Amino acid sequence: MYKILLKQDLVPGIHLFKVAAPAVAKKAQPGQFVVVRIDEKGERIPLTIADWDREGGSVTIVFMEVGTTTARLALLEAGGAIADFVGPLGLPTHIEKFGTVVCVAGGFAVATIMPIARAMRQKGNKVISILGARSQDLLFWEDKLRSLSDQLIVTTDDGSYGRKGVVTGPLKELLESGEKVDRVIAIGPSIMMKFCSLTTEPFGIKTIVSLNPIMVDGTGMCGCCRVSVGGETKFACVDGPDFDGHQVDWDLLFARQRIYLDEEKRSFEQWQRSVHR
Ligand code: FAD
Ligand code: FES
Ligand code: MG
Repeated sequence: MYKILLKQDLVPGIHLFKVAAPAVAKKAQPGQFVVVRIDEKGERIPLTIADWDREGGSVTIVFMEVGTTTARLALLEAGGAIADFVGPLGLPTHIEKFGTVVCVAGGFAVATIMPIARAMRQKGNKVISILGARSQDLLFWEDKLRSLSDQLIVTTDDGSYGRKGVVTGPLKELLESGEKVDRVIAIGPSIMMKFCSLTTEPFGIKTIVSLNPIMVDGTGMCGCCRVSVGGETKFACVDGPDFDGHQVDWDLLFARQRIYLDEEKRSFEQWQRSVHR
């Protein structure tokens, strides 16, 4: 069992766990993830490694409640434990000195982008970050990301904080301003990653996205996380999750993410009934 050392409710519906997992902490790299199973009967879900403490032997994950498993996970408290916590899985994000790197994060993905921005900065890149959320009450870690960035732009869809609108607005302005951008890393909801990729494509700037198809084993065996990139079939758990956003078949990704919507909805309703009984 993997003990939960700390729980923080970051904003409504988004939680942080620091989990005792020394073997994962020892090897974790930016961009990698773990596959978590709450208990023996639970399903496996992938969650990105948001941070780690190699000496202390702990790994931090940040998750958003969207369905049965994440809602069940949110009920656990510090002192509780998770049955399986397997990782680090996936290829680490490619980090090198590119020059200027723009890190774009949507929603809870600010936690995902944090270790990447830090590693890019440590390599000597200029890091410009764009952080987007639906509204101010869903924004977190603005200061943490600011401390890792040479410049930070914040957007909210409803204009309740920062610039009103979505992240692609400032991204396009930045590229049009003549700022020499060498690489863009965009992580967040798939639709956001698609539109970031479409925004950068005319400027010919390599754009890395972190794909989030349904995953089960996370080790390349089940085929669930099949995606198409540059016309080739890839398994996001072992060939990614990072890919060139200009090469991704987004429609296939969207379709495959929705395959089990009916079952997921039924499962969630059933679970809610059992909780409120
Ligand atoms: P459900 O109601 O079962 O599903 C809701 C939606 O989530 C589905 O429609 C589907 O699109 C997606 N989903 C469902 N099951 C899976 C699955 N086994 N694998 C992937 N997606 C699934 N979420 C976070 O909140 N924080 C993270 O750091 C994070 N990192 C991720 C890293 C990777 C590499 C991937 C692939 C996904 C990541 N996700 C992350 C998404 C997270 O795994 C899903 O939100 C979660 O599995 C939903 O489970 P559920 O039972 O609560 O919801
Ligand atoms: Fe099974 Fe990738 S999750 S092959
Ligand atoms: Mg589920």
